[in-house]
Amino acid sequence: MARRFSGMQPSGEPHLGNYVGAIARWAQDQSPDHVYCVVDLHAITVPQDPAALRAQTLELAAWLYAAGLDPDVVTLFVQSAVHEHAELGWILQCVATMGELNRMTQFKDKSAGRGSVLVGLYTYPVLQAADILLYQTEEVPVGEDQRQHVELTRDVAQRFNSRFGETFVLPKATLPPVGARIMDLQQPDRKMSKSTSTPAGVILLGDDEATTRRKIMRAVTDSGSEVRPGPDKPAVTNLLDVFAAVTGRSPVDIAADYDGRGYGDLKRDLAEAVNAHLRPTRTRYAEIAADPGALREQLRKGAGRAQSVAAETLDRARRNVGLAG
Ligand code: AMP
Ligand code: TRP
Repeated sequence: MARRFSGMQPSGEPHLGNYVGAIARWAQDQSPDHVYCVVDLHAITVPQDPAALRAQTLELAAWLYAAGLDPDVVTLFVQSAVHEHAELGWILQCVATMGELNRMTQFKDKSAGRGSVLVGLYTYPVLQAADILLYQTEEVPVGEDQRQHVELTRDVAQRFNSRFGETFVLPKATLPPVGARIMDLQQPDRKMSKSTSTPAGVILLGDDEATTRRKIMRAVTDSGSEVRPGPDKPAVTNLLDVFAAVTGRSPVDIAADYDGRGYGDLKRDLAEAVNAHLRPTRTRYAEIAADPGALREQLRKGAGRAQSVAAETLDRARRNVGLAG
């Protein structure tokens, strides 16, 4: 099986976009060659409250286990427990160029309108490249918004290899068949996001079933009443994509069920489908989060496994660059 690596920031509660774009896919076809990471070093690129960051790191790990990641099969760990990430990140900062980083759309979006932008927010994609390359990763399961960062990772790895000798495997992003970009329920022209969406626009994994239903019933819709996907129907297309992602059916197929019925029926059934799909994960979350000691212990074991792979790659990179320390 291909080696996989992916990461998620503990910068807020995980939402349905995270689940469809990333988490649900991590929980599918698990293998000892798959490595997943709660990327807390990435979360400090914007101001964070230390106590909240610490709590959210454990909470996100609990969600990932609850969604079905099996610690006896895959490796799950917290990024800051494996110092190799920061160290390879520095070396790669001396391979990536400002021209490349200036093109990153996530940086442009996150820095726009901010009075003071941290250097770490700018060099963030290079740390992400280090995350991926340390594990000789072939596939990076992510949502659409991360495609550009994975392409940068590939370019940096290729440059490193040609300058210093074969060191890294060249990775590629893998996207879900539907739901690579779940949109905000209130603003279907913007992605569902931890940082920019209003509460009504985001379904949190931690929302209860009544809240989930209310948010879906109040989701904005498009003009007309016909249920079908299409560029002139961004809101309904998004609802159909979510429906498809949680049922494994195709959006067109689902739309056919609502021929001659309205948006209300679609939303009611969608709310039920989302709640039914998330129910086991939500139940397990409560159990896992109730035992933080066991959670920390699992993560510590994960970090040990991750480090044994990461240390080997870092060592090769250091030697090939000519670092003699
Ligand atoms: P983040 O919350 O930014 O750390 O994102 C974690 C993962 O969720 C990444 O793979 C993202 O591409 C994915 N993701 C975030 N938001 C969405 C969304 N609205 N739709 C689909 N995938 C998403
Ligand atoms: N930048 C990613 C995001 O915002 C998170 C991330 C960090 C990541 N390192 C990674 C994703 C490595 C995939 C692989 O969603």
